Amino acid sequence: MGESGEFQQHLEVRKYQLEREENLTEKEYQIAVIPGDGIGPEVVREGLKVLGEAATRCGFRFRSAQYDFGGERYLRTGETLPSSALEELKEMDAIYLGAVGHPRVEPGILEKGIILRIRFGLDQYVNLRPVKLYPGVWTPLKDKGPDDIDFVVVRENTEGLYLGIGGLVREGTADEIAIQEMVNTRGGVERCIRYAFEYTRKRNRKKKLTLSDKANVLTYAHNLWRRVFNEVGKEFPDVERECAFVDATCMWMVKNPEWFDVMVTCNMFGDIITDLGAMIQGGMGIAAGGNINPQGVSMFEPIHGSAPKYGGKNVACPLAAISAAQMMLEHLGEIEAAELIEEAIKKTLSSGHIKDLSTASGLKTDEMGDMVVKFLGEGG
Ligand code: IPM
Ligand code: MG
Repeated sequence: MGESGEFQQHLEVRKYQLEREENLTEKEYQIAVIPGDGIGPEVVREGLKVLGEAATRCGFRFRSAQYDFGGERYLRTGETLPSSALEELKEMDAIYLGAVGHPRVEPGILEKGIILRIRFGLDQYVNLRPVKLYPGVWTPLKDKGPDDIDFVVVRENTEGLYLGIGGLVREGTADEIAIQEMVNTRGGVERCIRYAFEYTRKRNRKKKLTLSDKANVLTYAHNLWRRVFNEVGKEFPDVERECAFVDATCMWMVKNPEWFDVMVTCNMFGDIITDLGAMIQGGMGIAAGGNINPQGVSMFEPIHGSAPKYGGKNVACPLAAISAAQMMLEHLGEIEAAELIEEAIKKTLSSGHIKDLSTASGLKTDEMGDMVVKFLGEGG
């Protein structure tokens, strides 16, 4: 081998070493994946496909650990989420959930046993739900467009009516009493409200935070919320504060959604108004959310359920699950990747190929995922 050949070889070796070093410094995320029931597995599959493409393009890796929690496993084993699994989830960087819910399982078992157990067990005290209408998406709101529908709901996620404290007495008689307590702790309310103020400041749009409550009737619980809201708000003089009753909030979400920037609310109200939010942003096919523990492990999911009727048919819209993956990357600090995914979603939506975001979109679940991947490849 001549001198130049040796030099060439040296260059090749060096290049290989440099690439290796770069790979070794690449970040790797451990993601727990819970596909769940019904359409869960197929929409999650598309989300992971998009995540894989984003990872390749942006130079990070992720390793997924699959968990089969859901209705099938429950019917087979009687188990919803074993404690050992909860411990394993605590070691992950994030959790990616499809949907749980099975027609042969009584309502409440999987919801409480899996979703709420993770939310509570991992202290994911905020449920973050962006309501954003993308260009090209149909909204049932007349004369409203993407400039009008763009706000975020910060829903308290570990207390309120969801805690499950209560009971039935004289069950089955005419004198039966059913009690379900609404729990509001100073600490729980304060940390959620503080998160919402910080989020509003960081979002840096209208810099307005609306507390949606029912302080005119829930004169104990939501008195606490209002006091804490105004107290914490004093630390954020740059954020405008506004209070709205939850019934009026529903009215304004339909009539004047452009008034909202960030909204903070209790667990139950947040559950209800975010389904309304999902509808005005184009439906369950696009709405996603994150269950956030700012100091711990967070979980990302499409807001829609398992829609068992459509499970395995390859007709569900995967964009909500893909948006959830995007939120997960943003949370992990992979901002560039998250932005690329959002751009690819927008291009998919305005491509003219998608009739709507229901199961009759005109595209198959995997075709829509492929399209997002294709646009992702073209972006950046
Ligand atoms: C949601 C869902 C859940 C909730 C159910 C499935 C427990 O409706 O994420 O909004 O009520 O929080
Ligand atoms: Mg809900």
